[in-house]
Amino acid sequence: MEQYVIKGGNPLVGEVEIGGSKNAALPILAAAMLTDETVYIDNMPDVFDTNVLLHALEGIGVMVKRTGRHSVILNAGNINSVIITDENIKKIRAAYYPTGALLGKYHEAQVPLPGGCDIGCRAIDQHIKGFKALGAEVVIEHGLIKTKAERLAGSHIYMDCVSVGATINVMMTAALAEGLTIIENAAKEPHVVDLANFLNSMGANIKGAGTDVIRIKGVTKLHGTEYTIIPDQIEAGTFMFAAAVTKGDVTVKNVIPKHLESITAKLMEIGCEIEESDDCMRVVSSKRLKTTHVKTLPYPGFPTDMQPQIAVALALAQGTSIVTESIFENRFKYVDELTRMGANIKVEGNTAVIAGVNRYTGASISAPDLRAGAALVTAALAADGYSVVDDIRFIERGYEDFEQKLQGLGAQIERVSNEKEIQKFKLQVG
Ligand code: EPZ
Repeated sequence: MEQYVIKGGNPLVGEVEIGGSKNAALPILAAAMLTDETVYIDNMPDVFDTNVLLHALEGIGVMVKRTGRHSVILNAGNINSVIITDENIKKIRAAYYPTGALLGKYHEAQVPLPGGCDIGCRAIDQHIKGFKALGAEVVIEHGLIKTKAERLAGSHIYMDCVSVGATINVMMTAALAEGLTIIENAAKEPHVVDLANFLNSMGANIKGAGTDVIRIKGVTKLHGTEYTIIPDQIEAGTFMFAAAVTKGDVTVKNVIPKHLESITAKLMEIGCEIEESDDCMRVVSSKRLKTTHVKTLPYPGFPTDMQPQIAVALALAQGTSIVTESIFENRFKYVDELTRMGANIKVEGNTAVIAGVNRYTGASISAPDLRAGAALVTAALAADGYSVVDDIRFIERGYEDFEQKLQGLGAQIERVSNEKEIQKFKLQVG
């Protein structure tokens, strides 16, 4: 099993190129099935989740041709089944996206229920509510979500909670339904907007993405397109907080600063300096971090996917901070691991009370999920001495070349697969 071995204590310094957004790429790859024509996608992140989804799409006859590490051509003109049997797709949360696309185009889909990181109960009742409102029958049987519709017709759907996945799924199905669909209380995340832009570039008629109310006028057919996926704001935010935690000076390149506003606001509150230009953001951290309180919220609030990263920073701040997780109830699993490194955090329900300590000390820790895993790596980079991080497969779900990008910023981190390699690393870095 692969691990990271890290020697902490070096400030991260330099520039890092941010890749395409995982959470935009996943629905875009599924939505490419809505047309029989060819779709060219660029800036696709080469990470576990996108690769699993592409493999599952190939399994039902989608032609998938990679023309570069970050570019892929898809053609769904010869799909031979609306039943996905790929075992791996169960491992990713985005397993639910082929349902919206297949239902929209073929009026039928059978797809394994989604898995993904264990960060709390991840209901799909709003997806089901949306599909039913559009005219589909939905049953869950033998671990599959099975949907079928004679006819799909536009509808007025009020989402009971703000859900990225449900908003996206309904948009995909409604794009080819008859008449007008209105989604109220829609998610506003940049990846929701990116999917809407992608669908519109295929000939869909979607207005209002990025606001609470999305209006979709169904069209009879969608066509091929060429599309570039937006940069990943969570990857960018992770490197920005890594700069804060290690007292570094990091410029993230190829970002959309507007998507990072809640993240930069918190970095400034805790004492970092931020320089913004068109598509770059520089974070300089030179003093002991200050405390703040933060509550995760749907966009444009502070993202739940950045909660562990900010907690790692606040655990080194002077004084007490409070972090409230309002989206997923099980997103504090990293706290026990951080405690091994010297953090002083008390969790009660969805709140973590963090009393800042002066320093972390290296330890053997495990990545409990994707974002928490990345956050623990940043803690290890700031810690005195060596750390070994287990279960790095979680990190690979969403961060491409994570250790290489960190090495480019001066981090002493190596991917290893046995004790001998750990010892070799220790000898090399001294
Ligand atoms: C997406 O998950 C992301 N995943 C998550 O990123 C992200 O944390 C989350 O949105 C919130 O921003 C992908 O895009 C693949 P939701 P999703 O539906 O769509 C409740 C990462 O690290 N809910 O917006 O599954 C749900 O329980 C991952 O990249 C219902 O109750 O999230 C949660 O409390 C982790 N019923 C809240 O809504 C539903 O039908 C938000 O979930 C759907 C959701």
